[in-house]
Amino acid sequence: MHTKYLSIYLDLGLLLTIVVPLLALLCWWWNEIWYVRAVKAKCLAFNTKVPPGHLGLPFFGETFLFLRFFNKIGRPDDFINSKKIKYGENVGVYRTHLYGSPSIIVCSPALCKLVLNSSDKFKQEWPTTEVLGSNSVITLQGPRHGLIKSFIVNYINRPDPLTRFLVQAQPSIVEALQLWAQKPKVTALPELQKVTLAYTMRYFSGIEAGTQVDKFKSLFEGCRRAITKRLKEELERRKQKSENNNKNGEEIESSDLMDGLMQMKDKEGRQLSEGEVLDNIVSSIHVGHASIAFVMTWSLYFLWKSPHVLQKLQEENMNMSWEKNGESLTYEDIMKLKYTNKVIEEIIRRANQSSFVFRKATDDIEFKGYMIPKGWSVMVWVRYLHNDPANFEDPLSFNPDRWDTRPAHGTYLPFGGGPRSCPGSTLVRLSLALFIHHLSIGYSWEVLNPDFKVNYFSHPLPSDGLEISLTKI
Ligand code: HEM
Repeated sequence: MHTKYLSIYLDLGLLLTIVVPLLALLCWWWNEIWYVRAVKAKCLAFNTKVPPGHLGLPFFGETFLFLRFFNKIGRPDDFINSKKIKYGENVGVYRTHLYGSPSIIVCSPALCKLVLNSSDKFKQEWPTTEVLGSNSVITLQGPRHGLIKSFIVNYINRPDPLTRFLVQAQPSIVEALQLWAQKPKVTALPELQKVTLAYTMRYFSGIEAGTQVDKFKSLFEGCRRAITKRLKEELERRKQKSENNNKNGEEIESSDLMDGLMQMKDKEGRQLSEGEVLDNIVSSIHVGHASIAFVMTWSLYFLWKSPHVLQKLQEENMNMSWEKNGESLTYEDIMKLKYTNKVIEEIIRRANQSSFVFRKATDDIEFKGYMIPKGWSVMVWVRYLHNDPANFEDPLSFNPDRWDTRPAHGTYLPFGGGPRSCPGSTLVRLSLALFIHHLSIGYSWEVLNPDFKVNYFSHPLPSDGLEISLTKI
């Protein structure tokens, strides 16, 4: 009997002192052995190094650590800071394992620029095209991407469409602010999403959401098929109209992006397919309205927290408003608002809507003695560039005057860079200009729950949607 118990104790002791620690050790080093060993051998041959870091646990990698910084303690930049402390201040490139794949984190300005500008070496990949559509410029690759992207960039950023954008967006913003001031409390984010949805839909597709804006909002929040169906009806209507015009020998007038894409031809003189037109309209409205509403929401918070900034903004915009005598702001007017433009840049920097941009290395790439292995994910950690004290002094303070001098090359990339940079950056800046102009000249407001938690997935946003009360001044 005694010997039986003794052998159980010995087995247990063996398990706890040798087997469990061995298993834990194996777990800890598994990813390093599986993914990094082969790369290290290659590095030896090329006299390079694997970027410092650790790939964490099998399958999960560093996901738990990442979630701890982003979700639990709400200090996302400390994920990178912890790596800096461990592996060195000036490295700017680290290895990790996130989103199910061995990855290289890039947060040095030079390497961020290199990755974004080298689309042949660092390819963009989406896990699914279900939400954005397989023909959208966001998911397309190669020459077709280049063709449609340059058309969209040129089309929406010409003076005429930009003037039309301002004329269409302004009344929606003015009307929303008037309505909010009549309510005791407003949740800014969903309300702003309705405003931006109404005017981006009008701008890209000519569809008036009107009183049906809630219905359209839920269509955009639901599945892509439903909203595509609605936009297809509009496309069919236009096709019919253009056929009638052709029969009558009348000129077809192109006014919005949908018209433009319908008439656009590729090098062989072929028009875009219906799917290409629709996917690009749906994704432009989808991405465009949401992201503009996100930065507008943050503008309410940052301006409320910085009364001295608001006062200067108000003075400049009051002067402009008197000059304009109630007329709508034009592009030229907005360019004259020097302080307002600095405020806009600071809102975009602090809002940090795109935390990172994903790429995949198509080859082994060497950078300053480090190897980025072929097939690994590359995460351009944009938000860290904007919150790194090496790039922006006292980065977490809201200080528009920092924009008196231009940031160093590669340190400010809110809209990405290179061939896949954001085509909507001007629309964002103009939208913010209109919003903070009408807000500052006409209203005061209170943030009702200033201690809100920030949700960092998938975009940094106040978890309560930012509850405010607005008063006409
Ligand atoms: C604050 C607002 C916005 C931010 C921070 C933002 C940020 C970005 C970033 C970082 C990229 C590059 C992604 C990559 O390199 O993989 C991008 C791409 C894109 N953005 Fe924006 N964006 C904003 C607003 C808009 C708006 C208003 C539109 C509407 C037209 C838009 C449409 C697009 C499209 C179509 C792409 C894909 C471009 C391509 O792959 O070639 N974005 N955006």
